[in-house]
Amino acid sequence: MKLIYTGKTKDVYALDDGNYLLKFKDDVTGENGVFDPGANTVGLKIEGAGRAGLSLTKYFFEKLKQKGIPTHYIDANIEEAMMTVKPATMFGNGLEVICRYRAVGSFLRRYGMYAKEGQALDAFVEVTLKDDERQDPPISQDALHMLGILSADEYVVLKDLTKKISQIVKDELAKKGIELYDIKLEFGRAGEDRQIILIDEISGGNMRAYKNGNYIEPLQLEQLMLTD
Ligand SMILES: Nc1ncnc2c1ncn2[C@@H]1O[C@H](COP(=O)(O)OP(=O)(O)O)[C@@H](O)[C@H]1O
Ligand SMILES: [Mg+2]
Repeated sequence: MKLIYTGKTKDVYALDDGNYLLKFKDDVTGENGVFDPGANTVGLKIEGAGRAGLSLTKYFFEKLKQKGIPTHYIDANIEEAMMTVKPATMFGNGLEVICRYRAVGSFLRRYGMYAKEGQALDAFVEVTLKDDERQDPPISQDALHMLGILSADEYVVLKDLTKKISQIVKDELAKKGIELYDIKLEFGRAGEDRQIILIDEISGGNMRAYKNGNYIEPLQLEQLMLTD
């Protein structure tokens, strides 16, 4: 097992059989001890956060598999906080795809002149570059194409998958009386045919969820979703 990448919240290992192993850490993104899914720094450490994030990730990836959505997921070991996945290559140095149902976070910071906080958005999809140094700038479809990061056809697939996956997550949350405001996904190309698949994780750390108008912290979300 060879360490190939040390991320903010996970470490990535290459396995001898060619698959990857994601080790979920207890580090959480945010600033000054306050969680923020949009942050590019590790803001705090919470005991058990890795296992909780993986538990919810496992839950959603298995749900997606049932629905025929292509993902990198192979299996998960919750105790060890490890997930085995198919390796994918990135679009450029990586993209984040965000689906928004309500105006909060960076959307509101950027478009506050035109949008009200919490305003409903119709599964609005945005793409940002994974570029911590430049605070993950949003990028248009034209720029993605022009810079050779994503073809026009791939963009269509990416957007369509994002809407489908986000709706599945939204519906799952709704069953527990929780409303999904926004969610951040990652995709990559896998296999010889370079099929676009969902990668990374789907945990409390990638989304903003609210219950009765109150924001739900990642650990609490994971608990609410996974206990009856
Ligand atoms: N199936 C996969 N193949 C290749 N890379 C992956 C796969 N799944 C996730 N990754 C990458 O592994 C890293 C996971 O660690 P993380 O702590 O989330 O990193 P980051 O600090 O970049 O967000 C991310 O960079 C993510 O893009
Ligand atoms: Mg990450």
